[in-house]
Amino acid sequence: SIPVDNVQALASKDLKDIPIRYIRPEIESEEVLTDQSLQIPVIDISKLTVAGQPGYSDELAKLHVACKNWGFFQLINHGISESIDAMKKVTREFFKLPLEEKMKCAQIPNNIEGYGQAFVLSEDQKLDWGDMLFLLPLPIPQRNLRFWPQNPTSFRTTLDEYSTALHGVSMKLFKLISINLGIKPETISNIYEKCTQGIRMNYYPPCYEADKVLGLAPHSDATGITLLVQVNEVEGLQIKNNSKWVPIKPVPGSIIVNIGDVMEIMSNGEYTSIEHRAMVNFEKERISIAGFHSPGIEAMIGPLKELVKEKTPNYKTITSEDYVRLIVNSKLDGKSLIDHMKI
Ligand code: SIN
Ligand code: FE2
Repeated sequence: SIPVDNVQALASKDLKDIPIRYIRPEIESEEVLTDQSLQIPVIDISKLTVAGQPGYSDELAKLHVACKNWGFFQLINHGISESIDAMKKVTREFFKLPLEEKMKCAQIPNNIEGYGQAFVLSEDQKLDWGDMLFLLPLPIPQRNLRFWPQNPTSFRTTLDEYSTALHGVSMKLFKLISINLGIKPETISNIYEKCTQGIRMNYYPPCYEADKVLGLAPHSDATGITLLVQVNEVEGLQIKNNSKWVPIKPVPGSIIVNIGDVMEIMSNGEYTSIEHRAMVNFEKERISIAGFHSPGIEAMIGPLKELVKEKTPNYKTITSEDYVRLIVNSKLDGKSLIDHMKI
């Protein structure tokens, strides 16, 4: 991979002309839906604690529709607000540090963790207007603490706690998703008991040409499910719906959940992994924290056998290792990962 500029440092130079490699002419022609009436479903998970409680079936049905028709929803009353608030605080503090302090956690060759930018594979590839700190808190024995900030001092303990809390929420969702797919409640959560969890803290500086750059280029998440929180009030996430971009209006305190490619594959296409992107703001910085949850390295990636007993599988089944290779290769040939997995 090729090293690129730190975007926060670049933005602080107050350049009126943004370097050409960040400019995306294609976004001008793409339609953005400004009609605020189209919004992803809001799921109240406190209504889904015990089967049969008031509102349970309605909310469960709503969750099914959200996973099937939207691939995205906002989760409220998730019970982990304290962990989220603490994580937001240390994330904000980390990005505020001087560059040299943040660089103590800098990316190194042949490793996906650390502080830096999204990986660039060629000299002419367009660049995202954003920096990130990417860490893999799970599985615990594989943690690379060299990339975990010690400044602010409570960063590590806070992330450790956040990791557990977020994994807990994902496990609850996997049980509900299994019920909705008509299989035993533990089917999916068992696979994610040994989960690979990635936490990506995104920092998008303001930009004079915010309407011509992208914080994060369109993609679908290669993982199982993603739990995203907005650190500040600045919006920017947009999802693809009927070939138009729909801006997401985050409900304060909610977790934005999306179905990733692995979940689409496991559900044999019952649920869909939706393309999304992140826009930046003219005046304000934007910070978000994405939590990716994938099956452990020993798991097979393919449609759940419980779901394809009488049906034909729509996707191949491969090892997790081959799947990781496929993520890299599909980036190289520009074809989506899902296209490679479809039968
Ligand atoms: C992501 O797609 O991982 C993050 C999008 C965002 O910053 O809202
Ligand atoms: Fe994403």
